[in-house]
Amino acid sequence: MSTIVSLCKRRGFIFQSSEIYGGLNSCWDYGPLGVELKRNVKEAWWRSMVTNRRDIVGLDAAILMHPKVWEASGHLSGFTDPLVDCKSCKERFRADHLENLSKCPKCGGQLTEVRKFNLMFKTFMGPVDDQSAVVYMRPETAQGIFVNFLNVQQATRLKPPFGIAQIGKSFRNEITPGNFTYRTREFEQMEMEFFCMPDTDAQWYDYWRTTRLDWYLKHGIRKDNLRLRDHAPDELAHYAKACCDVEYLFPFGWSELEGIANRTDFDLKRHSEFSGKSLAYFDEETKQRMFPFVIEPAAGADRATLAFLIDAYDVDKEDAQRVIMRFHPALAPIKAAVLPLVKKEGMPEKAERIFEDLLDNSIRAAFDVSSAIGRRYARQDEAGTPYCITVDGQTMQDDTVTIRERDSREQYRIAAAACVEVITKKMKDART
Ligand code: GAP
Repeated sequence: MSTIVSLCKRRGFIFQSSEIYGGLNSCWDYGPLGVELKRNVKEAWWRSMVTNRRDIVGLDAAILMHPKVWEASGHLSGFTDPLVDCKSCKERFRADHLENLSKCPKCGGQLTEVRKFNLMFKTFMGPVDDQSAVVYMRPETAQGIFVNFLNVQQATRLKPPFGIAQIGKSFRNEITPGNFTYRTREFEQMEMEFFCMPDTDAQWYDYWRTTRLDWYLKHGIRKDNLRLRDHAPDELAHYAKACCDVEYLFPFGWSELEGIANRTDFDLKRHSEFSGKSLAYFDEETKQRMFPFVIEPAAGADRATLAFLIDAYDVDKEDAQRVIMRFHPALAPIKAAVLPLVKKEGMPEKAERIFEDLLDNSIRAAFDVSSAIGRRYARQDEAGTPYCITVDGQTMQDDTVTIRERDSREQYRIAAAACVEVITKKMKDART
């Protein structure tokens, strides 16, 4: 893991938040390469869940919601982790992560009684900070979808089965954040609530398990590093009839990337009860009101990005110092780098025009003139750039350039004027 963390800092994928002040525990900032990677992960998710489908629409709900939402959802009473403190060293632990509750695993000191700790971040809305002004930073994006279920259904006139998808920040005051960006207190979720007829829930649950597992595989995660794990009955959340996790083999062991749950009609019914406004769906054909069941694939954008970073990491077989980030082309932060072979004979100017052309066509590209060409290829391999375009002596004679592919190291020539078309086609073919 330390190799990935230092690469992330060195190449500008991820920095520690507020580093010059000593950092802020569990908070991270995405640098120039990281922000592109994470945007591409979210874009790939949105494309497969919304853009390419007729039965799912998007939503962008507010982070702050009416406090009653969290009463209805069960978060106020039940979104807790068991906590113990060491009376000697003051270290804090999740009780369910300890094998022995009689002594502190760090210093052997006495532990406090287990108490419940609510994970929601509390804040105050408006200028008065009393109990009536308390609001919570959402701990999941899902509730914004449930309370808008009828708004979306009536505006779009979609009939179950259909889904509502959302990407956005969530906040949890985790007791033990850690493992780099794996468990943080501020993170981004990619969630979709799929509303279906009650008797079809098992079938849709199976469908989303397979579909979501395939999404990671299609975007380059190695099969051996991915698995589905069903929750045991005593692990199920209070709202879930069935649940499984898509797990990735992180350097610290198999851990959750995404949860897929059958949430039944729990949330729609609870919000109807607490708000006094029915969220039941009226079926025009049967003239009946009903609460659809919900299948929820809930993924983390930061966890997915971390898994894609770890899985892409490779070193050159002949030179272990040379890192190659083998990102799927759709996820790679930079799609193409333009490299003039030397800084003379009109090559930089020609390369500059190709670079401009790529940017004008919305292809995220890089331009690099400094140091030997081998060093520049190595820099791009480390950034995970799938294609390098080299402008050389022959370019100045016949207006062709060399394309060098990151993974195969294959090199071939194409017309300089065809760069945008060729890279665009490669990106399109790589999309899933
Ligand atoms: N709406 C259901 C829900 O929120 P969850 O399993 O608690 O379910 C879904 O969260 C996903 O959100 C997780 O699989 C994970 O990828 C991400 N996630 C949850 N807590 C996180 C944290 N503290 N840091 C980073 N990602 C987190």
